[in-house]
Amino acid sequence: MKKISLTTGASILGLSIALLIFYVYDLSSVNFTRIQVLKRWAIRPRARSRPTVITCNRSDLWYDLCSINGPNLLEPTSSTLFLVDPTRYFGPPVSVRTRPYTRKSDLGAMKHVKELTLTSAQHHMNCAVMHTSPAVVFSAGGYTGNFFHDFNDGLLPLFITVNSFFGNHDFHLVVTDCSLWWPQKYKEVISRISSLPMIDMDRANRTHCFPSTIVGLIKHGPMTVEPARLARPITLRDFGSFLKDAYLGQGEDKAMQQSNHSQDTGSVRPRLVLLSRTRQVGRAVLNQKELMALAEQIGFNVTLFKPSHKTSLADAFRLIHASHAMLGVHGAGLMHSIFLRPGSVLVQVVPIATEWVSEMFFGNPARTLGLEYIEYRIQPSESSLADQFSIDDVVLNNPRAATKGDWSNMKLYLKTQNVKLDMVRFRACLEEAYVKAKRFMEENEGNENMDKLVSSSRKLIK
Ligand SMILES: *[C@@H]1O[C@H](CO)[C@@H](O)[C@H](O)[C@H]1NC(C)=O
Ligand SMILES: *[C@@H]1O[C@H](CO)[C@@H](O)[C@H](O)[C@H]1NC(C)=O
Ligand SMILES: *[C@@H]1O[C@H](CO)[C@@H](O)[C@H](O)[C@H]1NC(C)=O
Ligand SMILES: *[C@@H]1O[C@H](CO)[C@@H](O)[C@H](O)[C@H]1NC(C)=O
Repeated sequence: MKKISLTTGASILGLSIALLIFYVYDLSSVNFTRIQVLKRWAIRPRARSRPTVITCNRSDLWYDLCSINGPNLLEPTSSTLFLVDPTRYFGPPVSVRTRPYTRKSDLGAMKHVKELTLTSAQHHMNCAVMHTSPAVVFSAGGYTGNFFHDFNDGLLPLFITVNSFFGNHDFHLVVTDCSLWWPQKYKEVISRISSLPMIDMDRANRTHCFPSTIVGLIKHGPMTVEPARLARPITLRDFGSFLKDAYLGQGEDKAMQQSNHSQDTGSVRPRLVLLSRTRQVGRAVLNQKELMALAEQIGFNVTLFKPSHKTSLADAFRLIHASHAMLGVHGAGLMHSIFLRPGSVLVQVVPIATEWVSEMFFGNPARTLGLEYIEYRIQPSESSLADQFSIDDVVLNNPRAATKGDWSNMKLYLKTQNVKLDMVRFRACLEEAYVKAKRFMEENEGNENMDKLVSSSRKLIK
C-alpha cells in the first residue's frame, strides 16, 4: 500500500515538474499580449464550466441561429469557423452549414447569401489576429440595397440580436456579402452598435480568433420586435431611440427637446416631408406639383425629399426628425418614417393591390412607433392602370383574384402603377394630417432648433 502511494506521489511530482518546465518553455516563446489574452480566455467562467459546443437552432421561420460557445478560429477564405483547439473537443464530430440572413426560405434573397461552415474538424492553423471579445457573423447580402430590406432584414434583426446576447458594445461585427457602400452608408449605426472594428469577411485574408461566436441574426417578423421573446424587453420604439442616439448623440437631442419657443408657433408652419419616387421604379405621384401646391395651401412647409443611394443618412435623419409629417406612396423609401419623432404624422398613399403590404411593412410599425398614422387608399380612377384597363376589369376591381395570391403577379401593380391623386378627395386627408402635425408641433417645440437641424441637411432640400 505504502509502496504504491510512494510511487504515485513520485510520478505526480515528476509530472508536475515536467508540466512546469513545459509551461515555462512555452510561455517564454510567446509575447506578453498573447499571455494576457490567454489569461483572459482561461478565466472566462463559461469556457471553463461548460464544454465547447457547436449548435444550430433552425426552428424559426425566418432565420437559423448557430453558435460556438468557446474559442474559435475564423478562416475567411473558406468561410469556415473551426475550434481553436479541436484536440480538446470531446463530442461527436460536427460540421454544420448556415446562411446568416433573415429570410431563410426566400430563395431569391438567399442566392445572394454566402454559406458558412462551423466545424469541429482538425486543422493546423494559428490565430493570426486574436480577439478578446465575441463575434456576431451575419450577411449584408440578400436584398440589401433596398432601403426597406436594409432595416427589416438587417439592422433591426442586428439590434434584436445584440440586445439578446450582450449588455454592452464589446463585440465584433463580422459581415459577409458586404458591398463597399454598406459600412459607409450605415457607419453611424454600426459604430453605435459595436465599439470594436467591424470585420469585412469577404476582404479579410487572415485568420481571426474569438472567445465565442454567434452566426446569424434573430428576427421577430416584418419590422417587428416582440418584447415577450426577449430576456431584456425592448420594443420598436427603442430601435427608434437607438437611431436617434446614433445620428444626433445625446447632447444634441437634449438641446432639441429644450427648445420650446411657444411664442413663435402661431406663425410657423408644420414641416411636411414629401417623399418622391421616380417614374422608372413605379408608384410615383404623377401630379406631384399640384400635390405640393395643395399641401402648402393647407398650411404645411413642404420639403421634397428624393432619396438615392448617395443620400447621406445623417442628413436624411436631421431633415425627417425635425419634421412634423411625412407623406409618401407605399415603397421602400417610407422606411425613413423610422426617423420621425413619436407623435408626428405619417400619411401612406396605398396604390391598388398593395393594401396588405402597406399595412404590414409601414402601417402597423408606424402605430407601434407612436406615429399618427393615416392611410389613403386610392380609388381605381386614381391609378395609372386605369389608362390601360377599364375600371371594371378584374385588374382594377378585384386585384386579389387577378394576382391569385402569387407575389410574381404583383409586378404589374408594383412596377408599372403610378398614382394621380384626386385633389378633392385627397384634400380631406391632408387637412387631417395638418391638424395633427400642427398640434404635435405646438405641443413639442418651436421651430428654431429644428430649423438648425434642417439647415444642416440643406443639401437634401430642392
Ligand atoms: C430555438 O429557438 C426558438 C426560437 O426561435 C426557441 O423558442 C427555442 O427555445 C430554441 N431552442 C433551443 C434548444 O435553444
Ligand atoms: C491582406 O489584406 C491586407 C489588408 O486588407 C492587404 O494589405 C494585404 O496585401 C493582403 N494580403 C494578401 C496576401 O492578399
Ligand atoms: C419650455 O417649456 C417649459 C414649460 O412650458 C418651460 O418650463 C421651459 O423653461 C421652456 N424651455 C425653454 C428653453 O424655453
Ligand atoms: C420652411 O422651413 C425652412 C427650413 O426650416 C425655413 O427656413 C422656412 O422659413 C420655412 N418656411 C415657412 C414659410 O415657414
